[in-house]
Amino acid sequence: MERRMKSVKRRLKGPPSMQIRPMELADLPPVFELGQKLFTAEKLPTLYRSWDEDEVVELFGSDGETCLVAEVEERIVGFALGAMMEKPRNAWRYGWLEWLGIEPRYKRHGVASRLLARLTEMFIERDARIMLVDTDEGNDDALAFFRKKGFNHETKHVYLSRNLTSHPQYLEHKEAQD
Ligand SMILES: CC(C)(COP(=O)(O)OP(=O)(O)OC[C@H]1O[C@@H](n2cnc3c(N)ncnc32)[C@H](O)[C@@H]1OP(=O)(O)O)[C@@H](O)C(=O)NCCC(=O)NCCS
Repeated sequence: MERRMKSVKRRLKGPPSMQIRPMELADLPPVFELGQKLFTAEKLPTLYRSWDEDEVVELFGSDGETCLVAEVEERIVGFALGAMMEKPRNAWRYGWLEWLGIEPRYKRHGVASRLLARLTEMFIERDARIMLVDTDEGNDDALAFFRKKGFNHETKHVYLSRNLTSHPQYLEHKEAQD
């Protein structure tokens, strides 16, 4: 019984010596690298949002205040990148968790739980009334995590695509380039 309690406690607190702290400029390269490992096209095929350097730099530039990292022995093992959002003609403020990623070796140790808890507090301090997350419908790990954390009201989006390579203008454009 005591052993079980200890294991529950460890999961809630994360690995020993883990620190959750605001993201800093120097964290951009390790955060980007970890994201690249996690958000690759084969793992998350519906890349309606892509993980690239520009996106991460831009988000950190505009919403750095709500970007957090988890660190163990000076190594970044997770990140949560969030942004505050206001919708036009809507007085409510939203906190959007845009990217959440945990080093595979540290999964199921409560790292994401700690990041999410801190980010939630930060959103509330900034008057958010709703928190939003989104993920691919095939991302079972993320869905299990978010559902466990009380996210519901799931809405499906349909992303459509059209191949433009047979479009007359595309062909013209290509011909002009050759
Ligand atoms: C989804 C993700 C962030 C979860 O991180 P994590 O640190 O492993 O999550 P936690 O350890 O805090 O999990 C808390 C609870 O969520 C649930 N959970 C998390 N991952 C789960 C999984 N793979 N399967 C089932 N339940 C899961 C469990 O109830 C877990 O508690 P437990 O371990 O005591 O059973 C992580 O798997 C990840 O980085 N995935 C790749 C990137 C990604 O998809 N990001 C989300 C979209 S941006």
